[in-house]
Amino acid sequence: CGIVGVTGNSDATNILLDGLQQLEYRGYDSAGIYVNDQAGNDFLVKEKGRIADLRAEVSADVKGSTGIGHTRWATHGVPSKVNAHPHVSANGRFFLVHNGVIGNFAQLKEEYLSDVKLVSSTDTEVIVQLIGKFSDEGLSTLDAFKKVIGLVDETSSYSFLLMDKNDADTLYVAKNKSPLLIGVADGFNVVCSDAIAMLNQTHDFIELVDGEIVIVKPDSVKIQKMDGTEVSREPFHVDTDASAAQKGAYPYYMLKEIDEQPGVMRTLVQEYFNEDGSIKIDADLLNALSQADRLYVVAAGTSYHAGLVGKELFEKLAKIPTEVHVASEFAYNPPLLSEKPFFIFLTQSGETADSRQVLTQVNAQGYPSLTITNVKASTLDREATYTLLLHAGPEIAVASTKAYTAQIAVLAILVKAYGEAKGLQAVKEFDLAAELTKVANGMQELVDEKGTVEKVAKEMLETTRNAFYLGRGIDYAVAQEAALKLKEVSYIQTEGFASGELKHGTIALIEEGTPVIAVITNPKTATHTRSNTQEVLARGANVMIISSRGVAQEGDQVVLPDVNPLLSPLLSIVPTQLLAYYASLQRGYDVDKPRNLAKSVTVE
Ligand code: G6P
Repeated sequence: CGIVGVTGNSDATNILLDGLQQLEYRGYDSAGIYVNDQAGNDFLVKEKGRIADLRAEVSADVKGSTGIGHTRWATHGVPSKVNAHPHVSANGRFFLVHNGVIGNFAQLKEEYLSDVKLVSSTDTEVIVQLIGKFSDEGLSTLDAFKKVIGLVDETSSYSFLLMDKNDADTLYVAKNKSPLLIGVADGFNVVCSDAIAMLNQTHDFIELVDGEIVIVKPDSVKIQKMDGTEVSREPFHVDTDASAAQKGAYPYYMLKEIDEQPGVMRTLVQEYFNEDGSIKIDADLLNALSQADRLYVVAAGTSYHAGLVGKELFEKLAKIPTEVHVASEFAYNPPLLSEKPFFIFLTQSGETADSRQVLTQVNAQGYPSLTITNVKASTLDREATYTLLLHAGPEIAVASTKAYTAQIAVLAILVKAYGEAKGLQAVKEFDLAAELTKVANGMQELVDEKGTVEKVAKEMLETTRNAFYLGRGIDYAVAQEAALKLKEVSYIQTEGFASGELKHGTIALIEEGTPVIAVITNPKTATHTRSNTQEVLARGANVMIISSRGVAQEGDQVVLPDVNPLLSPLLSIVPTQLLAYYASLQRGYDVDKPRNLAKSVTVE
């Protein structure tokens, strides 16, 4: 979901709608705005569906200088116009948008709101009704807001943006666990859950810390703690150009982002390598890493899959035991830790609630941590001990592509710096900058030959019900990410399998025409995986093979350019990203906004 707000600009309606449009990529199912013109007129417009549907409902007279807006990704209550935000209090005075989940909303409702008829089935409405009630009982808006925040239990996450019709140039803001920024523009102020929403208005943003309350007026931003102590904080500057978040000539962001990968590899070489080949990574970070006896990589979704490749790199090259964990599992079922653990959080957005929850636990236990993220000043960046940036530019398509390859490349750079610091000869001799440049060229060759993949997608995936990716070792890690990519945008049920394991049960699912795509890059296991493809061929499967040049055979559909085998995922993933992209389009879906998914999941 996404939040936007503005105060002090007579074009509030358009600023809000434009901001919501910029946030579309995060995934949502309904949207709404509330606008007030300070002259006694106000407007609440909500709609199920896309921002375009909301725009169609916003008539020309919806004008004002202060307003709030929201895109909703349903948690409590189905996607509908009624459940869309902003929600309004029964006295008609307060308007609220909210990201996050209120854990104890049912108890609050029962305890305080038995006399109020709620119109929606959302947790958010309970909050605005409570504010209305406490205000009716005599509290000031600020005190009513604070009282309600005090009632919300600690499992809850929220960013709130509240307006009071009787004090209509003011935005009341609070956050806990969910991201929110205040943007300082020329003569007016804005609020947003992601800087991208407001880059057309300003590049200067003030970050907020959990537990703070902020009062935003056209010419002032007052931050205070719950006890009323004032906090002063300077804005930081976001360099991202608003156009970096535009599609340009591309039909879809996903294709643009797949194509950007060679450029991202080159940027990473520039960002992390000095001219003499030495690596620009903080000595303190390397020092902290060298104290560790085991690494714990924690992540979700695609980032988790990048972590699986990271494990190979850390263990094979730098000889340090590494575990990779799904964040939501780790949070409630942590493994037995080694004596000196070091945590690495992989997260494109820097906001995933599951990962953040683990980081909070890790911080409470006093362990050192590193966040590898694409978003500077994101929550996991701020809260980890160290940060390395992905420099991939804004990733807008819900299905992650360039962030995955950037994560692997940054992990490789970290492994190299760490291994060198440890004095490992093999690592010293590994010319990573040159290898990443080779990777960039190889990726370019692959993205330049989209036609082959498009054709295979048409032949194998256009009508199928299910599909399988197979691989061994590092290719198995790639198979898992390739399967996630295909299923999330094409809705084909896809599994990534260790190819030797397929015969122990799952082969029962292979029928005439079932697509099986094998990734084969390792000479040691190539023959074995090829026999596995024979096993499925014999049962009627349609087989596609993606192989590296050294092990390629006549008839393989995609042959990858040569790179160091440990970096092969950076190339082998590319045709699988394209397969997912084409399969989605051929099946008639919106590839950038797959159903039910959100780009950054800020609820647990
Ligand atoms: C969501 C997205 C995935 C992403 C995952 C982790 O589920 O839809 O594409 O991989 O979150 O996100 P992160 O920002 O932490 O990498």
